[in-house]
Amino acid sequence: MRTESTITDTPVGLPPGPRMPRAVQSVLWYRSAQWLMEQCQRRFGDMFTLRIANEGTWVLTSDPDTIKQVFTGDPRLLHAGEANRILLPVLGPDSVLLLDDSQHLRQRKLMLPAFHGERMQRYGALMADVAAREIERWPLGEPYPLRPRMQAMTLEIVLRAVFGVSEGPRMEELRRELRGLMDTVTDPIKGIAMLVLGADRITRIPAFRRELDRINSPIYAEIAERRTATDLAERDDIMSLLLQATHEDGSPMSDSELRDELLTLLVAGHETTANALSWAVERLCRHPQQMERLTEEVRAGEDTYLQATIQETLRLRPVISIVLRRLQEPMELGGRLLPAGASIVPSIYLVHRRPDIYPEPNEFRPERFIESEGGRAPGTYTWMPFGGGIRRCLGAAFAQFEMEVVLRELVLRRTLAPSRPGSERNYRRAITETPRHDAEVIVGRCPAVHVPKPQVEVEAVPV
Ligand code: HEM
Repeated sequence: MRTESTITDTPVGLPPGPRMPRAVQSVLWYRSAQWLMEQCQRRFGDMFTLRIANEGTWVLTSDPDTIKQVFTGDPRLLHAGEANRILLPVLGPDSVLLLDDSQHLRQRKLMLPAFHGERMQRYGALMADVAAREIERWPLGEPYPLRPRMQAMTLEIVLRAVFGVSEGPRMEELRRELRGLMDTVTDPIKGIAMLVLGADRITRIPAFRRELDRINSPIYAEIAERRTATDLAERDDIMSLLLQATHEDGSPMSDSELRDELLTLLVAGHETTANALSWAVERLCRHPQQMERLTEEVRAGEDTYLQATIQETLRLRPVISIVLRRLQEPMELGGRLLPAGASIVPSIYLVHRRPDIYPEPNEFRPERFIESEGGRAPGTYTWMPFGGGIRRCLGAAFAQFEMEVVLRELVLRRTLAPSRPGSERNYRRAITETPRHDAEVIVGRCPAVHVPKPQVEVEAVPV
């Protein structure tokens, strides 16, 4: 495999990588993926090979030109669904994250309208109310970890956006089971076991199947009831939209397709955003000047710095470190002919820390994204917390809008100070990165600023 071509100048085969056994690489990856990537980049450069558990061979890249090649390449030859197979046991075979080729496009097309920018605005009031209610309940003056609260908040928001409701015994059951499922898949020991077992074997474990049944039951019950609803056209929620959507041949989505997509949105849509919000708080707390500017501008009704703060948080602390595409044929990428079966893996984390693109990359500096202050707008292949190309995150606009709304409510209502002096390091929860101490802060009340009361009576978000 590693032979270098003698016929053309293009090297053939895998780039170099660590010689450690696959098992050691897998454990290091699971425990500290970002550290491992940094070490490898230092030693091997912008392109290197890793071997991870059942995941086959990964060729990581942090070169923007190669990443452009990947994101604009032929999706029939660059399979993301196949490379995301570890998500199969939870999300199911019809999940848009798991599909490739025409099936993926077919499903993505059905889901896209639910995420159009102008629809996001309609979720604004709901997001602000959920956030305001939650924030008002936080205890003052004592160390308080915000990540679990952010997670409760983003779960509440996505439940309401997806189903249109979040109250009642069925939604309560779904919320409880979903939390249980997230605890299972983010448990470090179970996480490593899942990597080792691989998707097919996990699906066959009876305890896992039972856990899944418990989550499927309220979803299928809601689908059955909603199919009989007569007001679907007037409803704003994503589920009602998907129930009315039809494939090109006129057929509606089946129950199992719906189940897989709804669960995909719930799972993909809340832990990620909660972690991103936690990082925003963690960084802002330790940067009082940035926090002050953000607060002043938000009070003045300005959004530019708020948006830049979110972009900078997602750059410096991306919650997902990589995306994957499995090669269906040998392909020349980054000046090297890679073999079929390997995955090309754009490293979000490494690209976001390139000093040639982001001077002093470890600094938290939202201004770098403000053009009127000498900064640059995020580049498609250099700022990619949501991946790219035809697989770019469907919820990217939703997530950024949600982060804006929540952070706005937060700085209007409360002051935040770090409860410990040092920065929080990262901690890996399954495939996402989160602050190690759950973004622990000391919450204070803002001095004498009028803040509107939440408008709608929303039930308190359960812990
Ligand atoms: C800060 C929050 C979020 C981050 C960092 C994030 C990140 C990502 C990434 C990296 C991917 C893979 C893209 C690729 O392979 O190129 C992805 C895919 C996806 N995300 Fe998100 N996401 C976030 C929030 C959301 C939300 C709120 C939703 C929905 C409510 C969502 C739904 C999806 C879906 C459906 C896909 C699959 C797209 C496809 O395969 O065509 N995500 N996300």
